[in-house]
Amino acid sequence: MIPLVFTLLYFCILWMGGFSASVTQATLQSDVQCYDWGVWSKESVYVYDGEVAWLYCPLFSYPTLYSYSQTQNSSLSLLWYRHTHTHELEQPINFKLNTLYKDREYLRIQPATEQDAGLYTCMLRNFSSCVKIGLVLEVIHRDGECDIKARLHLNISIPFQSERTLTCPDLHRIRLPNSTHSVTWYHLCNTNLFTMDRELKGDDVVIYRMLSPYAGVYTCVVSYQMNGHTFNFTRTLNITAVAPDVGNKEPLILNPAKDQIYSVTLGRRAELSCRVHLPHLYEENEEIWWTIDNKTVEQLANPRFTSPEATLVSEYYGDQKKERFLYVTDFSADDLQREFNCSARNSLGFNTSRAVLKQEPYVPTLELGCGLGVTLALMLMMFAVYHVFWLELLLLYRSWFGSDERYTDDKKYDVYISYARNSEEEEFVLSTLRRVLETEFGYSVCIFDRDSLPGGTITDDTLRFVGQSRRLVVVVSPCSAVRGTQALLELQAGLTSMLHGGSLRVVLIQFKPVRRQNWVKELRRARLALKLVRWQGEKSAPLSSRFWKQLQLELPMRRNTHHTDTHTPLTENTHNTNTHLTEDTHHTDMNSYTHNNTHTQNALSGKEKLEDPYSTSAL
Ligand SMILES: *[C@@H]1O[C@H](CO)[C@@H](O)[C@H](O)[C@H]1NC(C)=O
Ligand SMILES: *[C@@H]1O[C@H](CO)[C@@H](O)[C@H](O)[C@H]1NC(C)=O
Ligand SMILES: *[C@@H]1O[C@H](CO)[C@@H](O)[C@H](O)[C@H]1NC(C)=O
Ligand SMILES: *[C@@H]1O[C@H](CO)[C@@H](O)[C@H](O)[C@H]1NC(C)=O
Ligand SMILES: *[C@@H]1O[C@H](CO)[C@@H](O)[C@H](O)[C@H]1NC(C)=O
Ligand SMILES: *[C@@H]1O[C@H](CO)[C@@H](O)[C@H](O)[C@H]1NC(C)=O
Ligand SMILES: *[C@@H]1O[C@H](CO)[C@@H](O)[C@H](O)[C@H]1NC(C)=O
Ligand SMILES: *[C@@H]1O[C@H](CO)[C@@H](O)[C@H](O)[C@H]1NC(C)=O
Ligand SMILES: *[C@@H]1O[C@H](CO)[C@@H](O)[C@H](O)[C@H]1NC(C)=O
Repeated sequence: MIPLVFTLLYFCILWMGGFSASVTQATLQSDVQCYDWGVWSKESVYVYDGEVAWLYCPLFSYPTLYSYSQTQNSSLSLLWYRHTHTHELEQPINFKLNTLYKDREYLRIQPATEQDAGLYTCMLRNFSSCVKIGLVLEVIHRDGECDIKARLHLNISIPFQSERTLTCPDLHRIRLPNSTHSVTWYHLCNTNLFTMDRELKGDDVVIYRMLSPYAGVYTCVVSYQMNGHTFNFTRTLNITAVAPDVGNKEPLILNPAKDQIYSVTLGRRAELSCRVHLPHLYEENEEIWWTIDNKTVEQLANPRFTSPEATLVSEYYGDQKKERFLYVTDFSADDLQREFNCSARNSLGFNTSRAVLKQEPYVPTLELGCGLGVTLALMLMMFAVYHVFWLELLLLYRSWFGSDERYTDDKKYDVYISYARNSEEEEFVLSTLRRVLETEFGYSVCIFDRDSLPGGTITDDTLRFVGQSRRLVVVVSPCSAVRGTQALLELQAGLTSMLHGGSLRVVLIQFKPVRRQNWVKELRRARLALKLVRWQGEKSAPLSSRFWKQLQLELPMRRNTHHTDTHTPLTENTHNTNTHLTEDTHHTDMNSYTHNNTHTQNALSGKEKLEDPYSTSAL
């Protein structure tokens, strides 16, 4: 009993299932099983505001699939729908509205206004099948009847010297007697089209012999009466003159030419250019491509090989010159053995040409250039640095490589200062020059008036002191020119010692500008051999000034000559030394000697302290 119930139930379920399946099928059949082609985008349909528009059902653009005459014989019917702003869904078009007409495979809107813009659908259907496609109508404004900037309807190319009749497009659609319509033609907005080789003939423009002035935008305005109303439509044509349809129209490969050699560099990117002359043809799909060992870049699928689309190089009345590149990165020796061909094809012919490659020696121009540039920049920089810091550099150089004269001679003084005994120079020498040389630079300084012992002959003492000094610093002044002075004596002693091969060197300090003519003749004669250091007033006062550096360079080398307190104003202790030392110019008393001697001693011990090679202020 129970199995029977189950069997019944089972069959019941089966039957129910079958029933539901058949129901689905039925709904599918009755439902619009419509194949949707989407929205036609190949060409947009547009109409000038207020004119007549024809919407062509794009399904008939595929004549092998659908043709209007076939539709007529079969049970298929053509239906038009449109999307409105108020309704989401497509609405069947109401042909009772007196602007919309079904005109064979067209939908005619007579006339179209802005409200008619939008999406339309044309549908072909019978009981068993359905297909539909959408299309968009644009309604555009234009400026006046002739607007050459308006959207074009048609491009026409006419070969030179040939004959052509221009008919206003869509004129045949109105199929009305001659009397009820008129056509107005413009060429570049000019209504006078009559010339030697061109005239208006009925509704058409006839060009008997195409010449370049006949190229340009033509506008035709068709006006017709229907049902007592006047309607217009305008078409804009772009007429281009092209090369005559004679001669060889096969593609001609200009590069690679027969005798052309492409140079490539191993390890670098190679750029191979292919240029092809493509004669004018109508509706052509020319092709230019590179092959590597008879394989296209796509077939090779090697990322090292790339070839962007061909670009238009030039165009002359429809004849085009196009270029296509092949890029090979990291060109290898194996690539040299490959066969690189550029090929071109149009409907009339094919040609191919091989690019002959030659290896070019690798010249690292970039690297060389960079190297040279860097070297030059460095040289310039060093030149600039030297120019600005030459004194410092010289001092630095000397402190590293110079030799200390103290170890090679047995002289007592580093510097003998010779100066004119007048108040200005004396003050400079005693308060500034001497102080800096002794305390800041650590030199042992000899000043005759201070260091000579009373009693001796001045001449002998002077000669002795000068002989015991390594440098004779002469403070040049107009007064030092005066004959018979101590200063002149010192100068003469120094020059004599220098000229006779002594180890003394004479350094001139120009404290105040002195005209060369006013110098003593000894000085004038020796000037070229001597170094002159100029004191430039306040500017020269700081220890970091040129004056001190220049002077230091002329004086014997001291490894550690810099004190930390270089910024101490030099005039600070002018008074105590000055008052003491200027009281007697020619004769020194014992007091001043001892006083200054201790000073010298202090300075010397200070110097020795600084000479410690492990001193922290070492350069
Ligand atoms: C449609 O039918 C007509 C006659 O009614 C015939 O002449 C025509 O060839 C047919 N067209 C097609 C495509 O079958
Ligand atoms: C409907 O049209 C298709 C072609 O589009 C045709 O193959 C089919 O036979 C037609 N069906 C009927 C019932 O006419
Ligand atoms: C006419 O040619 C121009 C380019 O010269 C193109 O942009 C335009 O789409 C063409 N128009 C038609 C209707 O073919
Ligand atoms: C219209 O005019 C053309 C000449 O302009 C003529 O050939 C044609 O027969 C005319 N058609 C009618 C219907 O009158
Ligand atoms: C039609 O064109 C004529 C001139 O060709 C013009 O006078 C008339 O206003 C136009 N009509 C419309 C409805 O655009
Ligand atoms: C007409 O066509 C030519 C060639 O295609 C083009 O150079 C020119 O710009 C076009 N003129 C307009 C107004 O589009
Ligand atoms: C190049 O390859 C094509 C097929 O891809 C072939 O038809 C052609 O003969 C080849 N050419 C040479 C020169 O090998
Ligand atoms: C290919 O072009 C060359 C000149 O570049 C020409 O000599 C040759 O005859 C052409 N071959 C073909 C098949 O057109
Ligand atoms: C490459 O071009 C040459 C002519 O330059 C031709 O002889 C050869 O067959 C071409 N090779 C291929 C693979 O097309």
